[in-house]
Amino acid sequence: MGESKIITQGYASHVAEVQQRWEGALAAEGYDAALIHAGSKLVSFLDDYEYPFRCNPQLLWWLPLTRHHDSALLVRPGRKPKLFYYQPDDYWYLPPEDPADWWAGEFDIEQVRDGNAWQQAIAANTAYIGDAPSLAAAVDSKHLNPTRLVNRIHLQRTRKTDYEVACMSEAARLGAIAHTAAEAAFREGLSEYDIHQRYCMAIQLVDAELPYGNIVALNEHGSVLHYQAHEQQAPQEIRSFLIDGGATVHAYASDITRTYAAEDNEFAELITAMDAMQDQLCDAVVAGLDYRDLHLHAHHQIAGILKDFGIINGSVEAAVETGLSAVFYPHGLGHFLGLQTHDVAGLFADADGTLIPRPEGHPFLRLTRKLEAGNVLTIEPGLYFIEPLLRQWRNSGDVAAINWDKVAALTPFGGIRIEDNMLVTNGAPRNLTGEAFAALEKA
Ligand code: GLY
Ligand code: MN
Repeated sequence: MGESKIITQGYASHVAEVQQRWEGALAAEGYDAALIHAGSKLVSFLDDYEYPFRCNPQLLWWLPLTRHHDSALLVRPGRKPKLFYYQPDDYWYLPPEDPADWWAGEFDIEQVRDGNAWQQAIAANTAYIGDAPSLAAAVDSKHLNPTRLVNRIHLQRTRKTDYEVACMSEAARLGAIAHTAAEAAFREGLSEYDIHQRYCMAIQLVDAELPYGNIVALNEHGSVLHYQAHEQQAPQEIRSFLIDGGATVHAYASDITRTYAAEDNEFAELITAMDAMQDQLCDAVVAGLDYRDLHLHAHHQIAGILKDFGIINGSVEAAVETGLSAVFYPHGLGHFLGLQTHDVAGLFADADGTLIPRPEGHPFLRLTRKLEAGNVLTIEPGLYFIEPLLRQWRNSGDVAAINWDKVAALTPFGGIRIEDNMLVTNGAPRNLTGEAFAALEKA
C-alpha cells in the first residue's frame, strides 16, 4: 500500500494538446514565443534556510518538475519545446536527477549548470511567464506575465486532458488510502498530530508534498474552516473528527474531506443527512450547469437540514435570503481543482479576465462558470457551529430564528464538511473520490 503509480499513459498526447493550446494563445496575443520559468528558491529573512519550493504551475502543466528551481521551457509554434534543465553542481543540496525517460522524449533538452542559461532565449516578441526575481530583472516588464495571455492559458487549463484526469484519479486513490488510515487512527483515539502522521505514512508523502496543509480537526476544531494546528494531546473526550486532506501525483492534487462521529448520536444523524445531500449535489455536476445555481441550491438544502433538525426556525427561503444559512455554511460549494488546489479561472468569462459575478451575499464562492466537459472541481458543502458567526447573528440578526439550546448541544462537535472531486463529462459525471474509496473497499 502507499506507493504512487507513475502515470505515463496519454502523456505524449497531453504535451501535444498543451502545445496546441499554447500556440492558439500566442497567436491570439501576437507573441512568437513564451519562456516559462520554474521559479527560484526563496531564502528566509536574515538566514540561509529556504522556503519549500513550489514550482510555477504554468511549467507543471507541461511536465512534472516539482523540485526543479531555475529550469525553464521555451515554447514556440511548430517547434518541439526546449527545456533548459538546471542541474547545479551542488554539494549542499541534492541536484535534480537526469530527465526521466517517460517524459524526456517530448522535449529538446539542454542540461545546464548555470541557473541563468535560459537567458539565451531572450528575444523580441517573447512572453515571459513566472515569478523568479532573476526573470523580472532580465526581461522587459511589459512582456512579463502579460495578463491576457495568462488569462487565455488559465482558461485552457480548466479542461483537463486524459493524462491529467489519470493523475488526479491516482491522487484521489492516494487520498482515499490516507483518509482510511486517518479514520482508523481517529477510532483508536489518537491525537490530531498522530492522525496526521498516520495519514502521511500511509501514502509515503511528507508535508511539503501535500497540496495544502492537512486540516485534521477533532471536536470543536472542526468549526475552524482551515484549522491549521496539529495538537499533540488527544482530548479527554473525543466526539467528532473532520479531516480535509489531499495528495499529489505529478503535481496534480486531490482535495478530500470526510467527517466522522465517535458515537451514534444526533451529530452522526446530521452527518448522514449531509452525506445524502452531498451525493445528490455530486450527481448534478453536468456540462452546461451554472455552478452558482448549484451553490444556491446547496444553501436551500442545508437550510432544510437545519430546519429538519430543529436548529433553525422559520422557512427555508427566509433562512437563505436573510443570510441565516450562511451563518452555518459560510464558504463556497467548491472550486476548480488541478495543479493548484484552488485552480485557476473559476470566475473568468474571457481572456480580458471579465469576472462572472458571485451571487450577492456569497463572497467566498470560487467558481461561477458554466461547467464544461473536462472540468474537475470539488463539491464540498458544510455545516458548522462557528462561535464568532453565531455571536454576530445573536447581536444583529433575528435571535429567535435560531434554536440556541440545540446549537449549544451541537457546538462541541465542531462541524461537518464532505468533499469529493468531480470530473464533468458529456454524460454522467465521474466522482474520482467516490471511485477511489469504492476500489479500496473492494480490494
Ligand atoms: N481543502 C481546502 C479548501 O478547499 O479550501
Ligand atoms: Mn476544497
